[in-house]
Amino acid sequence: MERENIIENLEKELINVKNKNDLANLKATYLGKSGIVTNLSLKMKEIPNEEKREYGKFLNEIKELVTKKFDDLLKEIDKRELEEKLNREKIDITLPSRRKMKGSIHPMTRVVEELEDLFVSMGYDVVNGPEIDTDLNCFTKLNLPAGHPARDSQDTFYLDDDYLLRPHTSPAQVRTMEANEEKTPLRIVCPGKVYRRDDDATHSHQFMQFEGLVVGEDISLADLKGTLELFAKKLLGEKTNVRFRPSYFPFTEPSCEVDVTCFKCGGKGCSLCKQTGWIEVLGAGVVHPNVLKMSGYDPEKYTGFAFGPGIDRFAMFKYGITDIRQIYTNDIRFLEQFDRKDVE
Ligand code: PHE
Repeated sequence: MERENIIENLEKELINVKNKNDLANLKATYLGKSGIVTNLSLKMKEIPNEEKREYGKFLNEIKELVTKKFDDLLKEIDKRELEEKLNREKIDITLPSRRKMKGSIHPMTRVVEELEDLFVSMGYDVVNGPEIDTDLNCFTKLNLPAGHPARDSQDTFYLDDDYLLRPHTSPAQVRTMEANEEKTPLRIVCPGKVYRRDDDATHSHQFMQFEGLVVGEDISLADLKGTLELFAKKLLGEKTNVRFRPSYFPFTEPSCEVDVTCFKCGGKGCSLCKQTGWIEVLGAGVVHPNVLKMSGYDPEKYTGFAFGPGIDRFAMFKYGITDIRQIYTNDIRFLEQFDRKDVE
């Protein structure tokens, strides 16, 4: 086929092209594997040598021309389609855009982060433990053997005879000591969820504790006192006073219950503190020698202290939350309030 014929035919065929699909099909019949132009190139080997140069020139020209015709038409189709689309779609630029949902940091996360910062600044490591732990770690190795009456006060959710949802973060003490094989000093905090069979406005079946453990040589109750005083003042304000009352935990000896100046009335007495001026925030004590021994530490050489506040209370106080269960029900209307600057 002569060059003119090819172009003439192509032009005729191009008139019938309506869309990109037609264009692609037609392009294949010219430039595809066995297309007209491709076949012409294959003929090169039949052309006598002295005409090859001329034939090559002809081939290049035809390829260029055909390609250009296809490209031009493609541009035209694109333009036409865009115009059609713009005519079809009437865009109302005055419509408000879709609201972007902005996440906020959960009040509990804020309290945990604040406490972690404080303890990390005092040289503690932050560790995590599993929420499902063994009876051995949760009780036995904390000096609460099977049948011990103090197990009742932490009545919890058993999964089978050995595994349970941890009722406190204290198994972190056992896990840390066992992982460190008598290395000291140990200074850790372990924030995390704990579970007990409780459910009312101030008790949830799931809540947060923040375990602390220090083990080393010559660690005493005085160190515990200083640490907790600093902790209370930093978290709740410099004016906060701390009171230690004797108490009992099987894993500490001596043990104490720690109260802080009521965050609502500042100590004058109100409904929150039941007119006492004090709020109980945590249990603590000097680590019992049996606990050290069971996790591989020599109690003749080492001593330590431990504490375990429930920290939901701090979030409730800081952010004015009246029902602890709101912390865990993931209601967006509740959560989005904590994005406000006035709760920072
Ligand atoms: N684990 C105790 C509880 O949940 C709190 C505690 C921790 C007491 C560490 C003493 C030492 O009640």
